[in-house]
Amino acid sequence: MDLLLKGGWVVTHERVEQADVAIKGEKIAALGPDLEAPGATVRDVTGKYILPGAIDAHVHYQMPIGDLLTADDWFTGTRLAACGGVTTVIDYAEPSGPEEPLTQSLAQRLAEARDQACVDYGLHQVVMAGQEEDSQELKKVVEKGVTSFKVFTTYNQRLSYAAIGRLLQQARQLGAMVTVHCEDHEIVTAKRQELEAGGRTAPAYHATSRPADAEIQAIQEVIRQAGEAGAPVYIVHVSTGGGAAAIAAARAQGRQVFGETCPHYLLLTDERYASPDCRLFLMCPPLRTAKDNRDLWQHLAGGDLQVVATDHCSYSPEQKAAGTAFYNTPSGVPGTETLLPLLYSYGVSRGWLTLPQMVRVLATNPARLFGLYPRKGRLAPGSDADLVVFDPRQEVTLQAAGLHSAAGYTIFAGFSLQGYPEATYLRGRLVYDRGQFLGQAGQGKFIPGQVSTS
Ligand code: URP
Ligand code: ZN
Ligand code: ZN
Repeated sequence: MDLLLKGGWVVTHERVEQADVAIKGEKIAALGPDLEAPGATVRDVTGKYILPGAIDAHVHYQMPIGDLLTADDWFTGTRLAACGGVTTVIDYAEPSGPEEPLTQSLAQRLAEARDQACVDYGLHQVVMAGQEEDSQELKKVVEKGVTSFKVFTTYNQRLSYAAIGRLLQQARQLGAMVTVHCEDHEIVTAKRQELEAGGRTAPAYHATSRPADAEIQAIQEVIRQAGEAGAPVYIVHVSTGGGAAAIAAARAQGRQVFGETCPHYLLLTDERYASPDCRLFLMCPPLRTAKDNRDLWQHLAGGDLQVVATDHCSYSPEQKAAGTAFYNTPSGVPGTETLLPLLYSYGVSRGWLTLPQMVRVLATNPARLFGLYPRKGRLAPGSDADLVVFDPRQEVTLQAAGLHSAAGYTIFAGFSLQGYPEATYLRGRLVYDRGQFLGQAGQGKFIPGQVSTS
């Protein structure tokens, strides 16, 4: 054995038990009480939780939008992930336009990440208009280990609902998952025109410009398309109680509809858009109401939403300040580093989630949905030794200064946390310890997804 974590509380997706964890090379070798490991490095983790490393299934590093590039690149993005107890991230391979072959955009994205990533990573493949017809390219992408596609119902790269339906059919044949950004383009366009006509274009109108109904109607239509195609579907960044309710209703009928939400939709409201720093909180879809926060927690606790991810898409305050209107302010916020501690303090400690439920929404479920399980998302012998030593007694007040995003700010400034990651192990290697990043660029590996065989 190489490493023994001794005396802690092991949290799996099923239970919490007092057990030691032995690691050999990159894998978990044994789990149980009073393990002996002669010659191994021993870490006393008495009073701490041992969790499987979190998976942030929705991040955007060095993403170009117009002339801008997000503040976090593959190195800073995955470094801050390690510091927050996130050992796998899933980013996007995105063609520069519908004419760029999917496989070309995938090769380019893999090349960008290879020497820079500090934690393991997977990719979702963005599919643009017309590319949903190209079964050969879709198949090649899946064969290369990218088993999920991403489409948008709005933005320039949008697909029509009918095209999403065609992609769902292709994905069903390939055993792949289609993930969808749901905001109805017609509703969003009409709202923008109405606001522009009234001269109400300031960033403060962001939430008004993208109403809850735009999300709810898009989710309903995408679920309908998935039903016709007989395919599973995954809705990213659900921001509304109504959207989550649509997913819950489909699931109640036995449908394979899955939903992801983000900490900002659980914990922040659109009141932030009334403040002078509203641009820092501008993301799509926008923040909603306190009732939506509660409804989302309820749907998460009830199992109708399966994943909490962050949609980490960071711009600095200087980049954000260039925005003069809701439609030209860089959209997106940093979040990966605070994912786990926020879910613990505001999900587990407040009674919404049990510890195993937290492990499911942060690790096991995304690993299963995106073909990484049981290598990732499972704390058991044979799985990668991606582990977090979590100290439930450490008190932290979130501030940008304690965090590692190149964006230089956090939307959760001032949030009190009871509990914080003490150490992170990536495949058995210590990459973060008590405030210090100890990892290296290039040590993160691409983890190919496996298609579902069921
Ligand atoms: O505003 C956001 N969320 N930016 C990132 C791209 C997306 O829509 O997920
Ligand atoms: Zn999106
Ligand atoms: Zn996103």
